[in-house]
Amino acid sequence: FKVYQNMPSPDPNRLPVVYEEWEERAREVLEEGPFYYVAGGAGGESTMQANLQAFQRWKIVPRMLRNVEERDISIELFGQGYSSPLLLAPIGVQSIIHPEGEIAAARACAAMKIPYIASSASTKPMEEIAESMGDAPKWFQLYWNKDPEVTASFLTRAEEAGYSAIVVTLDTAMMAWREQDLKNVYLPFLIGEGVGNYFTDPAFCSNLEESPEEDPAAAIMHWTQTFGNPSLTWEDLAFLRKHTSLPILLKGILHPDDAKLAVEHGVDGIIVSNHGGRQVDGAIGALEALPQVCEAVEGKIPVLMDSGIRRGSDVVKALALGAKAVLVGRPCMYGLAVAGEEGVREVLQNMLADTDLTLALAGERAIRELNQSNLKKDE
Ligand code: FNR
Repeated sequence: FKVYQNMPSPDPNRLPVVYEEWEERAREVLEEGPFYYVAGGAGGESTMQANLQAFQRWKIVPRMLRNVEERDISIELFGQGYSSPLLLAPIGVQSIIHPEGEIAAARACAAMKIPYIASSASTKPMEEIAESMGDAPKWFQLYWNKDPEVTASFLTRAEEAGYSAIVVTLDTAMMAWREQDLKNVYLPFLIGEGVGNYFTDPAFCSNLEESPEEDPAAAIMHWTQTFGNPSLTWEDLAFLRKHTSLPILLKGILHPDDAKLAVEHGVDGIIVSNHGGRQVDGAIGALEALPQVCEAVEGKIPVLMDSGIRRGSDVVKALALGAKAVLVGRPCMYGLAVAGEEGVREVLQNMLADTDLTLALAGERAIRELNQSNLKKDE
């Protein structure tokens, strides 16, 4: 209602409401390199398009006269209650988007009690991000390093810093063919900003000849060569379990057979995702993959999803197709670019309001009651 109340006398400086407008404003305030680092995808960006098209193919079929005055958008995951089904997707090097980077985004999430997922590739050390959030919910995203000591160190640090779940991103064993980034050569940005979460890690630094402050270019080079590990197999998951007692979620699952393997290997959750179309060009849209993954999992572990969440109706559709919660990525980064902490908060607040209204107008009272009967797929 805040949005509608502003309508009679629109403030020219007011923040955008429309997703496309946030993106446009971000394009205006960011240099080409950082903007396309966020906005771009792999190859010809067909997966990025597939993510959005997948949402268009499913339509909500609203129900009437069902008393939707009181509504509940809360969820429960791993025995913990959360006030909404939104999380902030893990996003690296946010200081190329806004000088306050991860701290601004994390504070926005803390204010809204929306879990912030800190990326391994954060500009700021994970401890600093955690501290800025107080006791608000926070998860940590792991890039499984080639050096097992770095991986183990990250897991220990995350648990000690108060993160309550580990998201292991599997789809980025190496950086994909990202044409915009190759054109804009974003590596210099990274060298300028640094990946402080690695640069403060004792195991990572022990492999460097000089400290990251003395030779940032060499530290970045070492990071690019070790941040992912293409030789990993399902058997290696036991290593993670040995080093953390936190719930482990696998991010980047798209194939139902992988979903079954995840259950067999005892992980605690799955995130259906194609990394926002930034890894495999030509991959299946994430929402397209969701129903089959949920079927394969048979409700044994929670399934979350991301890649293409832009509006409340997207949240409702993903939840109706079996996701327990969704991760919001680019929309929040455009909010961060345009207005820092306030921008992220505004994007999340609007998405929650839109989700709540869409739920009500679809004729449902509780987000957890959504199911496929709320939807119809285009022929
Ligand atoms: C990402 N993503 C990502 N994922 C991850 O596990 N670790 C990371 O460090 C990053 N970094 C990152 C940077 C940027 C600029 C973007 C846009 C994305 C992927 C992210 O978590 C999520 O899967 C996607 O953002 C979802 O797609 P949409 O909805 O943003 O299009």
